[in-house]
Amino acid sequence: MERLTLKLRYCYGHVKNHLMGGIMKRKKGVPQASHTAGETHFSSEGVSLEFLGQAGFLLKGKEGTTVVIDPYLSDCVERLVGFKRMQPAVTAPENICADIVLSTHSHLDHLDIDAYPAFISRPSTFFIGAPDCEEVYRSLGISKGRYKILHEGESFSHGDVSVRAIYADHGELAPDAVGFLIQMDGLTFYNVGDSGLAVQRILKSLGDVKVDVMMVPINGAFGNLDAAGACALGAAVRPGKLIGCHFWMFIEQGGDPAMFLAESKRQGLNGIIMAPGEVLKLS
Ligand SMILES: [Fe+2]
Repeated sequence: MERLTLKLRYCYGHVKNHLMGGIMKRKKGVPQASHTAGETHFSSEGVSLEFLGQAGFLLKGKEGTTVVIDPYLSDCVERLVGFKRMQPAVTAPENICADIVLSTHSHLDHLDIDAYPAFISRPSTFFIGAPDCEEVYRSLGISKGRYKILHEGESFSHGDVSVRAIYADHGELAPDAVGFLIQMDGLTFYNVGDSGLAVQRILKSLGDVKVDVMMVPINGAFGNLDAAGACALGAAVRPGKLIGCHFWMFIEQGGDPAMFLAESKRQGLNGIIMAPGEVLKLS
């Protein structure tokens, strides 16, 4: 594990150098699932949540507002770190017409530097990220007026969506990492981001809020919650739905979704594991 941790640390430094050098080669040919997600995949009625694989989700509001969280749609992690993606991308980034793209931190599986150019090419797309995302945003050429950096506790509204940064404990791998509380169409979503078990600190950051849908990592490696920890945090927050994510994208990553479902049930939580590309209708 230490070896992998060192490898990841190396990777982020390498990526930084890579970006600073202005070399942005995009590898083509990432395997994709047969259906198309994003703008063509949703009915226009109600609120929907699509799982994009890894920690990625796409929220679609009643009026079509689209919020994308941590989409990993390329193979930049394999290209730069050597971790091969084990699931096809549910769609190409060019197919996603996002109003807002969120990144909980700058690691490649959350801020996909090979997918971002497609998001950036849509002038109406706005970006919201943790403090460590700003350097990457600038390197990718995102102008100052098109993004907002949120430190823990800070909020920002864009259109009919409000976002608040919540404490996350991703350790020294990403000390600036945050989770996001997203409110849209009367529903409250909490994406934990990458985090270990810091229940009291996270509860303090969340405050008195009723969460409808919570998305939590379950892989139990690289500073993240495992299935039991994800359920312990879920039991403290008591969301309407608790969706386990961040597993099985890479062989090195781990994760036990069956244990997550069993532990959710044992604790009286509405635990859900979604298949990549699966859509949950919420209203
Ligand atoms: Fe991650």
